[in-house]
Order: sequence, then C-alpha cells, then structure tokens
Amino acid sequence: MNEGLKIAVFASGKGSNLQAIIDAIESGKLLNSEVVCVISNKKDAGALEIAKSNGISAYYIASENYSNRDDFDSAIIDVLNFHSVNLILLAGYLKLLSPIIVQKYRNRILNIHPALLPKFGGKGMYGLNVHRAVIESGEKISGATVHLVDEEYDHGPIIIQESVELDPDETPESLQKKIQKIEHKIYPEAVKLFAEGKIKIQNEIIMK
Ligand code: GRF
Repeated sequence: MNEGLKIAVFASGKGSNLQAIIDAIESGKLLNSEVVCVISNKKDAGALEIAKSNGISAYYIASENYSNRDDFDSAIIDVLNFHSVNLILLAGYLKLLSPIIVQKYRNRILNIHPALLPKFGGKGMYGLNVHRAVIESGEKISGATVHLVDEEYDHGPIIIQESVELDPDETPESLQKKIQKIEHKIYPEAVKLFAEGKIKIQNEIIMK
C-alpha cells in the first residue's frame, strides 16, 4: 500500500494500546503511519489525555449528548472525514460501532480483545470480566486477539492471536497484566501487516 495510514483510535479507557501504537510509530516499527485523532465516549478517558500530550486531536463524542443515533454517528463521521482517516483502531472502545460506520470502513477497522476469540467475547466481555470468566471456566490458556471488525461485538476475521499460560494461582488482575503485555506487542504488529497490504480478505478468510 503506497498511501500512508491516517489512523483514528477509538478508546474508552486508559489508553495503553493507543500508547503502544504511538510508540511503534515513534520508534520506526510502524512506517508511513500517523495517529491523526482519538475519539472517546468517556470524558475522563486516559486515552484523551495521551492524545493531547502527544499533540493528537482528541474528541469526546458521547451518544448521551445527541438526540438520536444518526446525529451521534454523523458527529463521528465528520471527524473521520475531516482527518481523512483510512484506518480505525478500536482500543478498549466500549460502544458497538453503528453499521453505517462499519460499512463505510469495511475491512479498515481493527479491534483488540483480551482473550482468545471466539471464546470470551461479546457484550459485557470487557476489562476484568473477561479474565474472571476465563479463570472461572477452568481454562489453562488465554491470550489476546486482533481482528477485523464487523457489525457484531468482538466478531470478524482474526488477524493475530497470541496465548499465555495461566498460573495455578492466577487472578483476574494478574492475567490482565500478562495479557496487556501481549496486546501492546501484537496490535502494532497487526497494524504493520495492514500497512504493508498483507491482509487480504477472500470470502472472509484472511490470507497473510
Ligand atoms: C484492552 O485490554 C483491550 O484488549 C480491550 O480493552 C482494553 C483497553 O486497554 N479491548 P487500554 O485502554 O488500551 O489500556
């Protein structure tokens, strides 16, 4: 792909994955790429602070502040158009994207999830809830997944997964810590594959 990547990161939380992407760009691991804006539905999201301190445009756009879903979606689309965004990264964004945005950016939206999808994904599966569910179900391994986003929560063709073993005394908190380390490694790797045009979709199967 010759065209440079203009990335929008959507985040509701502290923003460590946003930071990992920024670091990968700054260190030269991710070439020809720029985070052009960060969008959050939470006013106090750490991700917005990270954006501001890196000179990246930061937007708080919450559905509560719009009278209907169409106006909320339009506000997001206006920002994406304004910055000529050509890749969206969901990084702990706790809202389902509207079909209109998924359609407009089909195969140009990635998400990172702190488990080995298709297990332990879906509505309500975020933060420590995921790791609690993994431990309670007696799994011996968990991990992180980067996938292309479709209209469903945590669903779409998988790009990269990496696993970790659970320790016998694993807690949701310790597992979260281990998995975040993996996330910060594989999310930039997946963006690199995308930037290099190495992700090709054929009948919903990813060829690398
Ligand atoms: C990560 O665990 C990610 O997998 C999930 O939400 C969390 C976001 O963490 N989708 P952070 O805000 O990037 O630190």
